[in-house]
Amino acid sequence: MGGLSKKAYQLEKIQGLYELPYLAVDGGNLLFKQERVAPGLLQQTKITAEGIIDAYNLMQYDAVAVGRNDLGAGLSFLKEQAARAKFTWLSANLVHKTDKKPIFSASLIRKFGDLTVGIIGLTGDDGKVQFQDNEDAVILPWQDVLPDYIADLSSRCDLLILLSNNTTQQNQKITKSFEDIHLIIQSSPSSKNSAPKLTNKSLIAQTGKQGKYLGWMLIDWQQSRTWGRKGAIKELATKKQELDGINGRISRIERREKEEDLSGNSSYQNLLQSRDRLLSTIIFLENELYDLKKTGNAPSTYENNFIAMDIKLPDQPDVEKIVKKVKQNVNQAGRSNAAKAATTIDNPEMPVEKLVFAGWKVCAQCHQPQTDFWARTNHSSAYQTLVEQEQQFNLDCLPCHVTAEYGATKISDNDSALLSLPSILLQVGCEICHGPGKPHAASQDPNQISRKPAASICLRCHTPERDEEFNYGNDLVRVACPASNR
Ligand code: HEC
Ligand code: HEC
Ligand code: HEC
Ligand code: HEC
Repeated sequence: MGGLSKKAYQLEKIQGLYELPYLAVDGGNLLFKQERVAPGLLQQTKITAEGIIDAYNLMQYDAVAVGRNDLGAGLSFLKEQAARAKFTWLSANLVHKTDKKPIFSASLIRKFGDLTVGIIGLTGDDGKVQFQDNEDAVILPWQDVLPDYIADLSSRCDLLILLSNNTTQQNQKITKSFEDIHLIIQSSPSSKNSAPKLTNKSLIAQTGKQGKYLGWMLIDWQQSRTWGRKGAIKELATKKQELDGINGRISRIERREKEEDLSGNSSYQNLLQSRDRLLSTIIFLENELYDLKKTGNAPSTYENNFIAMDIKLPDQPDVEKIVKKVKQNVNQAGRSNAAKAATTIDNPEMPVEKLVFAGWKVCAQCHQPQTDFWARTNHSSAYQTLVEQEQQFNLDCLPCHVTAEYGATKISDNDSALLSLPSILLQVGCEICHGPGKPHAASQDPNQISRKPAASICLRCHTPERDEEFNYGNDLVRVACPASNR
C-alpha cells in the first residue's frame, strides 16, 4: 500500500502534462493477496483494504474489475466497500445463483466528446468454487456471459476495454472469439508487467501486482478502430527522433566553429545532407498519414509506459495521509489484540517450552563468537526496526522480522500467535538459518542442526518485492557466522 501515494502523484502529473480525457482502471486483485484471508489476519487486512478504496476514491478511478482476491474477506465485505467506492466494481460473470444477474455492475460507458468508451469486467474463472453453499453467488465462465454484453456494447461504443482477472491463456482465447474487444487489461494471478501485445485484433496488457508499478497508455484512437502494427506512424516517430539528434549535432558544431570554416567541414556538410534527406522522408510519411486519416483508414496507435513506484518518488499528500493512518490503525488493532491475549492468559508471552524454537539466548551459551557476530547484523534488530516504524503489531510485517518459521515449521497456523512471541524470538534469530535447535542444544550433536542455510531459506523473506537486489552468493557472506576457534 506504500506505493499508493506515489502512484497518485504520478497520475496527477500525467493528467497535467497531457490534458487529454483519461480513464483510470484496474484489472482487479486490488484488495487482498489471497483468495481467502486467514481468520487471524482478517481484521488487519480489512483495515488495509478500506484504505486502498479511500485512496482509489481520491485518485478518481473509473472502474476496477472484481478479482478473485478481492473476495478474500468474503462477498459481503466487498459489497459494503463497493457502496463506499466512488468508482465502479465491474464483473459480468460474478452473478446471483438464482437469477444470473450481476452482483456488481457488468459494464460501464464513458463519453469523451464524440468518443464513446465501453468497459466490461470479468472475474477470474478457474473452475474452482469460491463461495459457500448458502451464498447466493457464482462465477460463470466468460463464454456464458460475454456474447450478449459484447454484442450490445460494440454497437454503442467506439472503443471497448475488457478488465479481466483471467489468465493470459484465457484472455488470448477471448480475443479469438471477440474481435470487437480492443484492449484487455488483465490481472492474471501470475502478474508481471507485460507491455501491450497484439493478439488477434486486441491488445493484451498487464501491470505487475501489489502496486509496484503504474502502467499507463497514451492512445490515439482512430475511426478505423484497429491497432496499427508497424507502418507510417512508428516510422515517423523514429525519423523525427533522428532529426532531433542531427539538429543537435549541427547546432553544436555551429557553436564551436567559426562560420567561415563551416563550408570546409566535411562532417558538417554530411550532416546537412542527411537532414535534407530526413526532412523529405518525414514530409512523405506525413502525407501518407494525412491521406489515411482523411479516408478514415488510419490505424490507431498507443504508447505504453511502466513507472516503478520507487521509494524516492514524491508522494501525493492526501493519499500519503491515508496510507499513514491505515498503518497506524493496523498496528493499533494488533496492539489491542495482543493486550487482549495478555489479559486472558497469565503470561503475556507464549511459554517457550511449548515452542519448537529455543531462542538465541540458549544458543549463545555455547556459541559466543557467532552470537557476537550475529548481534552486529541487522537480523538481530529486525523487530526493533518494526518498533521504530510503529509496525510491530502488523501481522503483514511480523513473519519476516521475527523467528517464527523455518521451512515447513511454523509457530502456529493461527497468525495472531505472532503477537505474543517471547522476546528471545523477536529477531531474525539463529534458528531462522539453522533450524529449530532444541534437540541440538540438549545433545550438542552437530548432526541435529543445519549448518549452511540454503538459498530457499533466505528467499522466503528476501523476496523480489522486498529486496530486489538480493544475491545469495554475495549476501550470504555478509551474514555467515565466523568459525569457532576450537
Ligand atoms: C550446550 C551447548 C550448545 C548449545 C546450547 C547449542 N549448541 Fe550448537 N553446537 C554445540 C557443539 C558442541 C557443536 C559441535 C561443535 C564442533 O563440532 O566444533 C555445535 C555445533 C553447531 C553448529 C555447526 C553444525 C555443523 O554441522 O557443523 C551449528 C550451526 C550450531 N551448533 C547452532 C546452534 C544453534 C542455532 C543453537 C541454538 C538453538 C545451538 N547451536 C545451541 C553446542 C551447543
Ligand atoms: C516477505 C518478507 C517481509 C515482509 C512481509 C516485510 N519485510 Fe521488512 N524487510 C524484509 C527484508 C528481507 C528486509 C531487508 C531488505 C534489504 O536488505 O534490502 C526488510 C527491511 C525492512 C526495513 C529496513 C530497511 C529499509 O529498506 O528501509 C524496514 C523499515 C522494514 N523492512 C519494514 C517493514 C514493514 C513496516 C513491514 C510491514 C508493512 C515489512 N517490513 C514487511 C522482509 C520483509
Ligand atoms: C542469516 C543466517 C544466519 C543466522 C541468522 C545465524 N547464522 Fe550461524 N551461520 C550461518 C552461515 C551461513 C554459517 C556458515 C556455514 C558454512 O559456511 O558452512 C553459519 C555458521 C554457524 C556456526 C558454525 C561455525 C563453525 O564453527 O564453523 C555456528 C555454531 C553458528 N552459525 C551459530 C549461530 C548462532 C548461535 C546464531 C544466532 C546467535 C546464528 N548462527 C545465526 C548463517 C546464520
Ligand atoms: C525471516 C526472514 C529472513 C530470512 C529467512 C533471512 N533474512 Fe536477511 N534480513 C531480513 C530482514 C527483515 C532484514 C532487515 C533487518 C533490518 O534492517 O531491520 C534482513 C537483512 C539482511 C541483510 C543485511 C544485513 C546487515 O547487517 O546489513 C543481509 C545481507 C541478509 N539479510 C542476508 C540474508 C541471507 C543470506 C539469508 C539466508 C541465509 C537471510 N538474510 C535470511 C529477514 C530475513
